[in-house]
Amino acid sequence: MRHFLTLADLGPEAMREILDLAVKIKRAWMAGDSTPYLKNKVLGMIFQKPSLRTRVSFDVAMLQLGGNGLYLSPNEIQLGQRESTADVARVISRYVNVVMARVFAHHDVVELAKYASVPVINGLSDFSHPCQGMADFLTILEHKGNFEGRKLAYLGDGNNVATSLLFGAALLGMDFAIATPRGYGLHPATWAIGERLAAMTGATITATHDPSDAVTGADVVYTDTWTSMGQEEEAQKRRQIFPPYRVDDACLRLAKDDAIVMHCLPAHRGEEITDAVADGPHSVLFDQAENRLHAQKAILVWVLDALR
Ligand code: CP
Ligand code: NVA
Repeated sequence: MRHFLTLADLGPEAMREILDLAVKIKRAWMAGDSTPYLKNKVLGMIFQKPSLRTRVSFDVAMLQLGGNGLYLSPNEIQLGQRESTADVARVISRYVNVVMARVFAHHDVVELAKYASVPVINGLSDFSHPCQGMADFLTILEHKGNFEGRKLAYLGDGNNVATSLLFGAALLGMDFAIATPRGYGLHPATWAIGERLAAMTGATITATHDPSDAVTGADVVYTDTWTSMGQEEEAQKRRQIFPPYRVDDACLRLAKDDAIVMHCLPAHRGEEITDAVADGPHSVLFDQAENRLHAQKAILVWVLDALR
């Protein structure tokens, strides 16, 4: 059974395999190929949190692959409240061919995978956002042509998105530099996984509190919200701490001249990123959003082994 819970679980080969599949599926779709690889398959989409990109891109991905997406809102399943996560996994597996879940606690998606008899895809947890990561590395490949020797700088909160970028960069041999305020860095256990993956590919990973250090010479400058879903009560405090990590024109001047700027969205314009940068010539924000669709088609086809 193939689940898709974190990029770290994949290893370098499967990471490349899914990325190659995404390139192939996107190219074919753009050329007018609509092979229904997932004909009559149903994806159950469990959401504990709001979403635009994840919800719509998975729904459309299933439609374009000849199957169906079934949206289950936070009020419906009430994972672990109305019934246990294990029972939800056992029941939903009897109806659908694959499950995607967006949860608060990462252990819920692990628990779903443990008890489901169909593949489970992590659509964002407090630990990682691997679907976003896969779309982001597809976007980097399209704009830069390769990964080795390229530098990805991440500024801001050491959150779920930063974790997936660390794992993906390490698996693909990219240099990864993260700058966070003190107390907001990646967890040491997460960093240890990144080190293990980087040792497999020769990637370098560095953590700093100095945003200039991280962004200098970067090919990719990435940021995300300072306050993730579930941390809303900390928003005011974080707004005081994070401004030095904002991606603005001055920050971008330290990166390579042809650097691309990335953000998983939703953006809080004027906080972690300025309008000038988000809408400027370096921005690839909406290519990233589009690539959620293509990358997730590859993830769905991969977990279901549907090319055979
Ligand atoms: N980037 C992302 O996952 O967006 P949504 O929260 O809108 O799904
Ligand atoms: N780090 C953000 C990503 C949103 C797509 C969050 O978890 O809210």
